[in-house]
Amino acid sequence: MSEYDRRSVFRSYKRRSFLRGAGSLISAWALGSCSSANYGDDQYRLQLATAGKDVMWMPSSRAISMAMLHAAKTLATDLVYDLGSGDGIIPILAAQHFGARAVGIEYNGELVELSRRNAIRAGVADRISFRQADLFQVDFSEATVVTLYLGEALNAKLLPRLEKLRPGTRVVSNRFDLGSWRPDQMITEVPNELAMLWVVPAGLQGRWRVPAVLDLESDTVSIVQSHQMISVQINRRGINYVLGEGRILGNEVDLELQRADQQAPTRLKGRLTQGGKTIRFAMRQRDPSNKTQDISFERL
Ligand SMILES: C[S@@+](CC[C@H](N)C(=O)[O-])C[C@H]1O[C@@H](n2cnc3c(N)ncnc32)[C@H](O)[C@@H]1O
Repeated sequence: MSEYDRRSVFRSYKRRSFLRGAGSLISAWALGSCSSANYGDDQYRLQLATAGKDVMWMPSSRAISMAMLHAAKTLATDLVYDLGSGDGIIPILAAQHFGARAVGIEYNGELVELSRRNAIRAGVADRISFRQADLFQVDFSEATVVTLYLGEALNAKLLPRLEKLRPGTRVVSNRFDLGSWRPDQMITEVPNELAMLWVVPAGLQGRWRVPAVLDLESDTVSIVQSHQMISVQINRRGINYVLGEGRILGNEVDLELQRADQQAPTRLKGRLTQGGKTIRFAMRQRDPSNKTQDISFERL
């Protein structure tokens, strides 16, 4: 696409308010995601920046799609949902190269038909379904991997639903972030392209009984959670004191506690178990043996 074409695409975006987010998508494309202006097959040919319901169509490159699926550690046991699936590239690669089942949600009926033909040509139609629907009306709570290439405003609108997915579900977004939810991983290996990975954290917010062996001056603590970040606090005469900080990756918990009598923080690595009632930690001994001791936090 020439510079002139690019500018005229941008002018037509400004004319048509329904192409929200297009400016950012055009920048993403201009940074090098795609190189050819015509896509589709002999039954449906489309151009970059074809209008979509809430955002225009721009394809993720094959390289970034593969990098996103790799970063999500996609397996044959996964169910990948691509929200706004375009010509189906991400669901098709998920099935072809990772053996996953996949669902593409796409509003444009011609793109849905094209995706189905593409899946047949790729020999993976039996593992994928493409649904013509508004992604904001679809229940995707069964997904174990969710992929996005939508734009900041649409990601922000989806955020409350993404955060409620099952702990451990991976969310991967091409180019656009999820606002206040910081990525667990930046996917930077494809030149001139960027994607981000989030792993839905388990909910640890609340009060927990902690074992006496930690010698924490109280046998209960509060865990305060913001997305995947946690802080462990105790309350002394109405004032909250932070004893430690950590992060959650799915059900895995990594925590550093500062104990009054020790200079170096105590590192705890653990996992939420028992339906969310117990965090089982391995605590490294502070003696030459370097052995670990099993301890648990119990939810109150
Ligand atoms: C930037 S493209 C990304 C396509 C594909 N996910 C990829 O990465 O190649 C965004 C897609 O979302 C679709 N779309 C826009 N609003 C939608 C909505 N409300 N529901 C479903 N699809 C939508 C557009 O038609 C377009 O195909």
